[in-house]
Amino acid sequence: MFRFKIFLMLLVLGPAAIGQQATPVSIAQPENPETISRHIYGHFAEHLGRCIYEGFYVGEGSPIPNTDGIRSDIVAALRELSIPNLRWPGGCFADTYHWKDGIGPKEERPTIVNTWWGGVTEDNSFGTHDFLNLCELLDTDPYITGNVGSGTVQELADWVQYTNFDGKSPMSDLRRQNGRDEPWKVKYWGIGNEAWGCGGNMRPEYYADEYRKYATFLSNSGIEGGVYKIASGASDDDYNWTEVLMKNVPARLLQGVALHHYSVIDWNAKSSSVDFTEEQYFQTMERSWRMQELIEKHVAIMDKYDPEGRVDLVVDEWGGWYDVIDGTNPGFLYQQNTMRDAMIAGLVLNIFNNNARRVKMANLAQTVNVLQAVILTEGEKMLLTPTYHVMHMYKVHQDAALLPVTLDSPEYEVAGEKLPALSVSASRDPAGKVHISLVNIDAGQSHPVSIDLKGVSSGNLTGKILQSGNLQDHNTFDNPDKVRPSDFSDFRVRNGMLTMELPPFSVVVLSED
Ligand code: AHR
Repeated sequence: MFRFKIFLMLLVLGPAAIGQQATPVSIAQPENPETISRHIYGHFAEHLGRCIYEGFYVGEGSPIPNTDGIRSDIVAALRELSIPNLRWPGGCFADTYHWKDGIGPKEERPTIVNTWWGGVTEDNSFGTHDFLNLCELLDTDPYITGNVGSGTVQELADWVQYTNFDGKSPMSDLRRQNGRDEPWKVKYWGIGNEAWGCGGNMRPEYYADEYRKYATFLSNSGIEGGVYKIASGASDDDYNWTEVLMKNVPARLLQGVALHHYSVIDWNAKSSSVDFTEEQYFQTMERSWRMQELIEKHVAIMDKYDPEGRVDLVVDEWGGWYDVIDGTNPGFLYQQNTMRDAMIAGLVLNIFNNNARRVKMANLAQTVNVLQAVILTEGEKMLLTPTYHVMHMYKVHQDAALLPVTLDSPEYEVAGEKLPALSVSASRDPAGKVHISLVNIDAGQSHPVSIDLKGVSSGNLTGKILQSGNLQDHNTFDNPDKVRPSDFSDFRVRNGMLTMELPPFSVVVLSED
């Protein structure tokens, strides 16, 4: 009888749980909670590889169903994600882009060479109208990055007038001449991109002065609360960049400071996107956890110069970066997307949620066919990646009130190196429903957790889980649903305590009914 009970226990808890204490997770309810800005769930579309051309844009004459050249299946999939903003046209491309090349009759537009990405000819057939109409189809806010590296203040000021000005002006007349009467009213503008590198190799002192000049001439006309200006920010742990910017740019000219951090193992040895080892997986997770430290340290500098919290941190490039798929153009950054990417997404989005005080916007790089894409295409075929599914599961946190969580995570150890295995974030949505997202990055072990829900939630919860048999599992055009979320009910709520077992490398979202 006793043996039978142990056998039953093993069946219920799973072998990993035996002898393992459940990790207690507590959820606080502050009186004035931070809001998790929906803009943390933003995306990025650069003129790079097959993101725009052969991705979003197939052209008006394509047999693939489209609206003015924009693929209808991509629009439908992204609308499902409720994407809050889309960053365009780059990236490095932005500081080579002259927007007037991309307006007017398509057959008359000049070509340029996309010098950063594959040296291919850019025919400018996808331009400002195409992008802003795409944003309308997606019901998302456009976030345009201006050209500081090779452009002029006048050029960027003109672009803002072209997209935003209601009255009569040279640029609004030109817009009307090109078929658009109403302004699009673009609120989010980046003043250059990676000014420390592809955006001009500037020193922070020089860029800070350039920024001040550009920001002065961007008109707020027609935009409620004014245009939201984002300074090109630091790469990874370049804290001096943030320090110099915050010190030298007055907060009245600055709404957001950017930060770029990719989960890349080593720029000279990135690993295959599919055939990677557990050690490489672990290193990718280490780079992803690093986002927490980077945010804390950049925010500490921002707090020093802006204690009122007027300037936001905008992580406008993040995600996994691996070797390109064999046989593809190395400049196109085309990679597959596995359970490893799902784990990056779950972990980093929890970090953003938990840092909602300053992190108000973020952009996963990039939406279609480039880096950690949510969508891949091949001809008329399209698939949703594991990352897409995590984004979909997490959309419940958009504009919800952050409920801070506390836990002391068990460790995930590989080759003597250790990382916290578990990451959790929680929120209460405007309808009062609680959502808890949990990630176990441990590739070999499940981990039991217990969550005290007393006074937080009724405990009537439903769950979704993303898991798969192998870390390397991914969706292909022949098997597009290999990795997909399923219902998760493997938890118990008794007397306000939730207990559950988080399977190895899984992402779970629990939502109040
Ligand atoms: O996302 C790809 C590239 O990475 C972007 O163009 C650039 O800003 C960054 O270095």
